[in-house]
Amino acid sequence: MTTELSEPGAPADEGREHRATAVAHPNIALIKYWGKRDEQLLIPYVDSLSMTLDVFPTTTTVRLTPGADTDRVALDGSAAVGEQRQRVVAFLGLIRTMAGRAEPADVDTRNSVPTGAGLASSASGFAALALAGASAYGLDLDAIALSRLARRGSASASRSIFGDFAILYAGRGTGSEADRSAYAEPVAVPDFAPAMVIAVVNGGPKLVSSRAAMRRTFDTSPLYRAWASSSAVDLADMRTALRRADLDAVGEIAERNALGMHATMLGARPPVRYFTPATMAVLDAVAGLRAEGVSAYATMDAGPNVKVLCHPEDAARVVTEVGRAAPGSAAVIARCGPGARLRPRVEP
Ligand code: PMV
Repeated sequence: MTTELSEPGAPADEGREHRATAVAHPNIALIKYWGKRDEQLLIPYVDSLSMTLDVFPTTTTVRLTPGADTDRVALDGSAAVGEQRQRVVAFLGLIRTMAGRAEPADVDTRNSVPTGAGLASSASGFAALALAGASAYGLDLDAIALSRLARRGSASASRSIFGDFAILYAGRGTGSEADRSAYAEPVAVPDFAPAMVIAVVNGGPKLVSSRAAMRRTFDTSPLYRAWASSSAVDLADMRTALRRADLDAVGEIAERNALGMHATMLGARPPVRYFTPATMAVLDAVAGLRAEGVSAYATMDAGPNVKVLCHPEDAARVVTEVGRAAPGSAAVIARCGPGARLRPRVEP
């Protein structure tokens, strides 16, 4: 927080500079969230569980601008436009309502991950924006409340409030009951620190946004509900596998859950297909590694890129095999990363 002592008699926050910078990392779901039961409040239809990464952080500064007539949003140094800007402005509006304030803000966001390529930039982005925005507008929220707020930007963002492993509950009921009960919290997993190789086979923006793809799948895919009920079983199995720190079980469950999610998309009308030939080649390479006795398991989000869960000591080999399978791809080795943090203010 940037709070400074106020003059006696001054309004509580006079003299306080309304500005905060937060850093958040992306997370990759091992049990996926796909499909919303409330599009307004961004309430997921299924519970999900993820690993927060230690790579590709987003750094976001929010500064209140009382004299301005509108919010200004910069993404990697350029003014955000269209839907991207609209989502941030709507999110700031939500924070303003919660804080009972009206001032516009300047938002400066720096991503170190290609935006919109299924690499969870919206997760790190809205987690950082929730924390920086809440702090700048003077909201005092605990981590669970922050996860609820981050969910309103992008549901997966609620998990990036926490480091290591986190679960996002789909909650129950409707309206404010649903809002209250759909939050993320940490999942304690002692003695389990796998690596995740992020294979970027295509860093460009995806053709169908996850939001649109999710809606279409939920509304039209006859496979969706079958996956959603099997996902509840996957989650229970995943908790057991994590407790046992059993990488093979964790990987197998994560892979079946992700491929099942993509199957629901292929069943959508019209179908949503994020797989490319390079994606398939990487999936083949992962299966090939397993055939040679290496514990390597794939998961994929709303994009063509593949994330490979493995033992840290096998990560370099996974990178080599991915590079061979998909020439021109780039691979980064990630480990478990931290939750969202405010960056301490450096005094001039
Ligand atoms: O929160 P969104 O709209 O970015 O959706 C993310 C959905 C997946 O990444 C595909 C799965 C997940 O749980 O993160």
